[in-house]
Amino acid sequence: MLEPATRATVSSAAESDTRPALRFLTCGSVDDGKSTLIGRLLYEQNLVFDDHLAALERDSRKHGTTGAEVDFALLLDGLEAEREQGITIDVAYRYFATPRRSFIVADTPGHEQYTRNMATGASNAELAVLLVDARKGLLAQTRRHAIIASLLGIRYAVLAVNKIDLVGYDEAVFARIAAEFAEFAAPLGFKEIRAIPISARLGDNVSATSANTPWYRGGPLLAYLETVNVEEDRAAKPFRMAVQWVNRPNLDFRGFAGTVAGGVLRVGDEIAALPSGRTSTVTAILSAGEAVDAAEAGDAVTVTLADEIDITRGDMLAALRDRPQVADQFAAHLVWMANDRLMPGRSYLMKINHATLAATVTELKHRVDVDTLARLAAKMLSLNEVGVCNLSVARPVAFDAYADSRDTGAFILIDRYTNETVAAGMIDFALRRATNIHHQAITVSKAERARLMHHKPAVLWFTGLSGAGKSTVANLVEAGLHARGLHTLMLDGDNIRHGLNKDLGFAETDRVENIRRIGEVAKLMTDAGLIVLCSFISPFRAERRMVRELIEEGEFIEIFVDAPLEACIARDPKGLYKRALAGEIKNFTGVDQAYERPENPELRLDAGEGAPAALAEQVIELLIARKLW
Ligand code: ADX
Repeated sequence: MLEPATRATVSSAAESDTRPALRFLTCGSVDDGKSTLIGRLLYEQNLVFDDHLAALERDSRKHGTTGAEVDFALLLDGLEAEREQGITIDVAYRYFATPRRSFIVADTPGHEQYTRNMATGASNAELAVLLVDARKGLLAQTRRHAIIASLLGIRYAVLAVNKIDLVGYDEAVFARIAAEFAEFAAPLGFKEIRAIPISARLGDNVSATSANTPWYRGGPLLAYLETVNVEEDRAAKPFRMAVQWVNRPNLDFRGFAGTVAGGVLRVGDEIAALPSGRTSTVTAILSAGEAVDAAEAGDAVTVTLADEIDITRGDMLAALRDRPQVADQFAAHLVWMANDRLMPGRSYLMKINHATLAATVTELKHRVDVDTLARLAAKMLSLNEVGVCNLSVARPVAFDAYADSRDTGAFILIDRYTNETVAAGMIDFALRRATNIHHQAITVSKAERARLMHHKPAVLWFTGLSGAGKSTVANLVEAGLHARGLHTLMLDGDNIRHGLNKDLGFAETDRVENIRRIGEVAKLMTDAGLIVLCSFISPFRAERRMVRELIEEGEFIEIFVDAPLEACIARDPKGLYKRALAGEIKNFTGVDQAYERPENPELRLDAGEGAPAALAEQVIELLIARKLW
């Protein structure tokens, strides 16, 4: 949680500076001296203390110094996604400026939420200041912070060897720590690592070169931060702009608004719109309502094109001859940020380049140990864990690899129920060009097949605890439908688990996959025109909803076979509760694994009381009322 805000005063000196602010991250454990360092920097620059997001917002509105405004916008941009999703991230942003450069510092506390917080802080930072205590040297946490920073695409690192006064300004201590870090960090892909001996408390090599370290010639920390050139040449990259919205005030004007993520766009340039691949020529570029000749990375513009091509929010405009990838499957790194674990097979929402679409982790390849970079086998990801996985999205999207562009290669995953951001993702590469696989056109349509059946297709989805009576009721319903001359098919938990799903057990992830496959089968059967009866515990709302969305509108009928747990235990038709309660069967629904009750089923059967035949009759009445035949 963000601490209460204190007053912010920003140096007006920054106004003379046109360079973008340097966004950096400070990391270190609790008493490595992070706050002291930032405090010292501000103090020596004669800046009254800062602070925190809320104060920044309030004060930028109040004071509105132009120099500061740009930077506040930058700062807020990065947080927008998380804030929209209402996630509380423990990252404090501070702002300060010297006559040479302005700075936005993300300070991430080193407690147990470190990965999520650090990932948030690092996602828009260009440089990381890693603090170590000269007396302690590199700690596991230093390594972890360096690994996370590099995963998040930070390419510049400062190793601030603090408390150098407490080791008697000993060059050998500094040299040993610096060498150890250089060796450890070699595979992490940093472009530049600068080790600096400092004392945050006494001020050695913070903003002025210290006389106590004559053996060190690298200059103070502040001078480095003021001069380091972190802007990879974004203008030299191919042009990219994700369309944020389509501006159509009247029939004569149609503009595509967004922020240029890379490259330069000029009036007259040929562009491609992705994923469609349609091409056109830029007729005008508007910036803050004014026509301009060109726009470059970081500019928010509206673009008009010579041709009427279909472009919507989430599409990407790109250089004609250097296009982004377009795919509906890709490999990515994920930083898991939620208390609920990642379930491969579950449907999440992905936000990527202003597009929002359904996404599933199809395979979790491994977890990354953030202390050692080792690959660990994993079936799920828990809070703060990092994994490498394959994802599949509902339709093709345009993106770049994160290594090529941190803007167009990043995404977040959102839980469809809580609306919380559950993961930050970085795309490694496309798995398959979506254009390789097409839907085959089929001559006989679903409607035509259904016509021969003389009834409508439907999925009757029976959900409830084991022993609630799902299969018994479903069986009676099928018999009743069959007797009426209707075409049915029964899919039942125990039976499907002997065939199609015999590779699956009862761990949460297996249940997710169980229901996903059954949903796909049920859909195929409705394509065949059948009334499909599905009888599965299906304990999780997310998967029941996924099947509902898979099946055509109105064809999915959720029937909650609601019997109290005590009644199911008393019945115990297969003797499984007895064994589960004795601890012999693990992951048993209702015993040591959750059952999430349906919130809005089409029908709830009171299965604690009613006789199965009467319950089945209720189902048939509902189908008659819905005019299935
Ligand atoms: S689901 O949760 O994935 O939908 P499904 O309906 O296919 O489960 O299978 C449930 C059936 O498997 C139960 O009716 C019961 O006979 C059997 N079973 C065996 N182990 C378990 C378990 N741990 N939890 C629930 N059911 C189990």
